[in-house]
Amino acid sequence: MIYLTRRERFNAAHRLYREDWSEEKNMEVFGKCSNPNWHGHNYVLFVTVKGELKPELGYVVDLKVLSRLIREHIIDKLDHKNLNLEVEFMKDRMVSTEQIAIAIWQELEPPVGSLGVELHCIRLEETENNFVEYFGK
Ligand code: NI
Repeated sequence: MIYLTRRERFNAAHRLYREDWSEEKNMEVFGKCSNPNWHGHNYVLFVTVKGELKPELGYVVDLKVLSRLIREHIIDKLDHKNLNLEVEFMKDRMVSTEQIAIAIWQELEPPVGSLGVELHCIRLEETENNFVEYFGK
C-alpha cells in the first residue's frame, strides 16, 4: 500500500454564522469570522489517496488524472466563490474548515474510487497556522 498526495489551492469567501441567531450573538460566538461583509482565505487542499503500486507503470494513480478530477469536482466549484452562497454542496452546513473538509471528502470519495484507489485523507489549510484533516469518520 502506498500513499500519494496532490496539493491544490483555491481562494474563497465565507462567513461563520447561524441564521437562527441574532447578529449580536453571531459576533459574540464567532467574532470577526462572522463579519457580515464576508472575508476570504487562500485555502490549500491536500488530497491523499492510497492504493497498490501498479508495477508496469511504477505509480499508484496517474497524477494528471487525479488533479483533473479534483479540479472538476472541487476546485472549479469553490475557487473565487462565496462558499456560503454559491456552492451547492455547502448548502445547509456551517462553512467552517471542518465542514468544508468533510464536504470535500463526500464529493471526492466516489470519483476517486473510480480510479482504482481509495481516498485516505483530506487536509485543508485555512491559514498557515490552522488546518484540519479528515479521514472519512
Ligand atoms: Ni474564515
